Amino acid sequence: MEKYLEFKNVKKSFPGVMALKGVSFRADAGRVMALLGENGAGKSTLLKVMSGDLQPEEGEIIISGESKKFASPRDAIDTGISVIYQERQSVPELSVMENVFSGDLPLTKLGFIDKKKMREETQKIIDKFDLPIHPSDKVGMLSVAHQQMVEIMKSYRRNSEIIAFDEPTSSLADHEVVKLFELIRELKKEGKIILYVSHRMAEIFEICDDIVVFKDGAHVKDFDAHSVKEDELISAMVGRDIGDVFSTLSRNTKFGDVLLEAKGMGSSKIHNISFQLRAGEVIGFAGLVGAGRTETVRALFGADKLTEGEIYLEGKKVIFKSPADAIREGIAFCPEDRKAQGLILHSTVRENISVPVLKKIRGGSVFLNRAEEKKLADTAVEKYSIKTPTIEKKCVELSGGNQQKVILGRWTSEKMPVKVLILDEPTKGIDVGTKAEIYQTICNFAKEGIGIIFISSELPEVLGISDRLYVMREGHITGCLDRNEATEESILTLAMSDTDNQNGGEGK
Ligand SMILES: Nc1ncnc2c1ncn2[C@@H]1O[C@H](COP(=O)(O)OP(=O)(O)OP(=O)(O)O)[C@@H](O)[C@H]1O
Ligand SMILES: [Mg+2]
Repeated sequence: MEKYLEFKNVKKSFPGVMALKGVSFRADAGRVMALLGENGAGKSTLLKVMSGDLQPEEGEIIISGESKKFASPRDAIDTGISVIYQERQSVPELSVMENVFSGDLPLTKLGFIDKKKMREETQKIIDKFDLPIHPSDKVGMLSVAHQQMVEIMKSYRRNSEIIAFDEPTSSLADHEVVKLFELIRELKKEGKIILYVSHRMAEIFEICDDIVVFKDGAHVKDFDAHSVKEDELISAMVGRDIGDVFSTLSRNTKFGDVLLEAKGMGSSKIHNISFQLRAGEVIGFAGLVGAGRTETVRALFGADKLTEGEIYLEGKKVIFKSPADAIREGIAFCPEDRKAQGLILHSTVRENISVPVLKKIRGGSVFLNRAEEKKLADTAVEKYSIKTPTIEKKCVELSGGNQQKVILGRWTSEKMPVKVLILDEPTKGIDVGTKAEIYQTICNFAKEGIGIIFISSELPEVLGISDRLYVMREGHITGCLDRNEATEESILTLAMSDTDNQNGGEGK
């Protein structure tokens, strides 16, 4: 019998928003189907309906001709559906094989857990996909990428026919993405039905066969991934042509004096880091994941202890014992991991945006100036097009990309004079249209004289936005490139080479 997955008129609403407005489409076996759409378009909601996490108000899910209803996630799993998210799902305290068999432990005739069988079967899957994992590794000790592999092994062991990925690469290094794609190709060869959600266009073109585009909870268009052009996809998603994002940016062209300087800075993970940032300048930090970019800005921000070197702000030596010291001096930091480090998920959009300026809004009074707080949140919602019915919505209920925008929204306030803005992977999980708006907002900050430090693993992005680029490898700066001399090749050479190259660029 022909295998397929079909959604028919699936509807799902939340208070104040219709997340799915009657979605219908079909995905076939042995193919990878991309779900594409702006932040809040309904992609994750559809996957949650499919995995039994959410109950639709209307509509059907049909698998190979049979209409299915999932009362619980367990139901969906038993029907052969697995969804792999970017966040960790495995149990960190358990071993790889215990996770792979979780909910379904094999027993011996005497009723003991059959460890031998677990180990053997797990090893078989490891060998099949050629994974750098051991059955008895503790999952909590594995990297994010390897934990994700455990999830995939789990779905493979259960013999899931339908495997969906929701932004699986957002925390992976390039070589880890290569491995993930090998796995997906293998699953495809076995005739699985695969759904793939990502905002990264290059990935869609590389791994997907079919594309469905979502807009505001509706399925608007289908494309053949092998023949469609990127700008066709973008205009289907955003409903307009956004052109070449970087060439149309209105950039700052005049830089001021050196605002921030690091001299021989080091922490437990980085060594001898020296760089300069001028007022109104955007400097980028490029490098492979694990090169020490986040550690560099953490050390700068007082989040990690400096073991060597000095930091100068406006020519004056500063010592930040904690992030609070850095914030007081006008350094703002948007961290990479929005859930762990940034966002208070169960608080509202309004509360999350006003966090850094609470003291200022109070102005010494014990009462909060509600009107002021509301104005701040409204401005941020507009500036970053945060998609939320009201500022009173809890952040946990926003789509992934919109949560990221709330973090950025914290740094819009006039109440908080920011001198240096540090952005660590600020566009992770953000759709193309909003990305363009965020780049312009960053350039506008620069025009006001703010110095920007921008970290990104996406080369075209860090190339497009930065006035100067520092490249890191293994905890060191291996070179500095000026905007006009930097190319993807020159960055990659510095990111991977053994030899230091400190020439080029003004800031050393
Ligand atoms: N648990 C929830 N409670 C209330 N509203 C929700 C909840 N989950 C999602 N929504 C809303 O449903 C809409 C669709 O969200 P969804 O997470 O499906 O978007 P998405 O396409 O995955 O976006 P992104 O690319 O940003 O991850 C959004 O407006 C979101 O705020
Ligand atoms: Mg999502």
